[in-house]
Amino acid sequence: MLFRKTTSLLILTFCLIALLTPKPAISQENPDKMEWFKDAKLGIFIHWGIYSVNGIDESWSFFNDYIKYEDYMKQLDGFTASKYDPEKWAKLIKASGAKYAVLTAKHHDGVALWDTKASDLSVVKKSPAGTDLVGPFMTALEKEGIKKGIYFSVLDWSHPDYDRNTRETFRYKNDPERFRKFTDFNFAQLSELSTQYNPDLYWFDGDWEHSPEEWRSAELKDKLLGYNPDLIINSRLGPGFGDYATPEQGVPVSRPDSDFWELCMTLNNSWGYQGNDHAYKSPSELLRIFVDCLHMGGNLLMDFGPKPDGSIPEEAENILNEFARWTSKHESAIYETQAGIPDGHIYAPTTLSKDKTILYIYLDYKVNESLAIKGLKNKIQRVWVVGNGTKLQSREVGKMYWSSVPGMKYIDIPDNVYDKDITVIAVLLDGPVDLYREKGQVIESN
Ligand code: GLC
Repeated sequence: MLFRKTTSLLILTFCLIALLTPKPAISQENPDKMEWFKDAKLGIFIHWGIYSVNGIDESWSFFNDYIKYEDYMKQLDGFTASKYDPEKWAKLIKASGAKYAVLTAKHHDGVALWDTKASDLSVVKKSPAGTDLVGPFMTALEKEGIKKGIYFSVLDWSHPDYDRNTRETFRYKNDPERFRKFTDFNFAQLSELSTQYNPDLYWFDGDWEHSPEEWRSAELKDKLLGYNPDLIINSRLGPGFGDYATPEQGVPVSRPDSDFWELCMTLNNSWGYQGNDHAYKSPSELLRIFVDCLHMGGNLLMDFGPKPDGSIPEEAENILNEFARWTSKHESAIYETQAGIPDGHIYAPTTLSKDKTILYIYLDYKVNESLAIKGLKNKIQRVWVVGNGTKLQSREVGKMYWSSVPGMKYIDIPDNVYDKDITVIAVLLDGPVDLYREKGQVIESN
């Protein structure tokens, strides 16, 4: 009991320190390689592992003592992958409008989904699945033109040189040689993944238990870039080693500082498959989160967990199909955009075309008669409903000839053009967007 309390306290202190320590800017030595990532906008995260057998939290369920380690590992016997259809997964992902996917090759429990030579702990050697599950998915993604991402936990609560039972000492601080053996093992597994599957992106996780020096993050990154110089790495190899930031679950309220970022979020409340978790967000709610990310210039990485037989839960499939409908209708207002204009001009998220001459407005509500835009100095050339084509009328009201404050622009929106989820209005301007950002004009001083 005391042990658990001390551990929780240590973890809490560690999390607090991690939260409060300012993180150096995301490294950008090769910004060209980020192009596809910046334009991708939507990615799909897949947490697949033995935790789907009982339908419990991935790895954390034994770490937090909700289940005994031995019983957790018994789930290996029920992990069949008998209905695994990687082509179907890839097609569903492609149709959803996602441009990249990330699969958990190994979570904190240490169970590899591929035939690793560095350890015996894999579903290939220890479960009825009996075969490599990473490769076929990577091949299927490549066939569909989807970028390949691999999730890899740098900490491993099963490895003999990384024993979860010694967690109160925060792992081998006092035995660096043994820890070095462990990092060698990580290097070996990652070399296997890189040489066999050549991922476009690594999604690391679990870095919080050690410093980048202890993980040998710099050396690791060099090695991985040696396999693929265009490789993108998320921000979890320690501060300063990632190419993009990864806020988790909570939707940012204002634009994150990093140029490149991705919100990772579960469809329900679980990363892996949990049959008892029915708290799925609705497609419409998730689309609203998605356009919020677009508005702030980021990506959304939506996660679901396949069942132990490899089938995709029906709820997840429905959500991806709803995304397919909306993203295919609104392509031009998704992939060819950048972050929108600052809040305060329109009561809705916005984005801009790459040349900043088209302003896209995302409406998840019906406006009362007309939509108002304030502080827009440009002239409006044309307005239309994206994916529907209807041309709309706009007018400017309240422009005083003696004032530099632009008038209000109103756009009338008829009832019959609304999308059932989010309606997108495109506003073509007479040049790159030009905004009035002052606080108003004092009449007395004129
Ligand atoms: C957290 C959790 C982990 C999950 C990950 C996904 O780091 O530890 O279980 O896989 O988030 O972002």
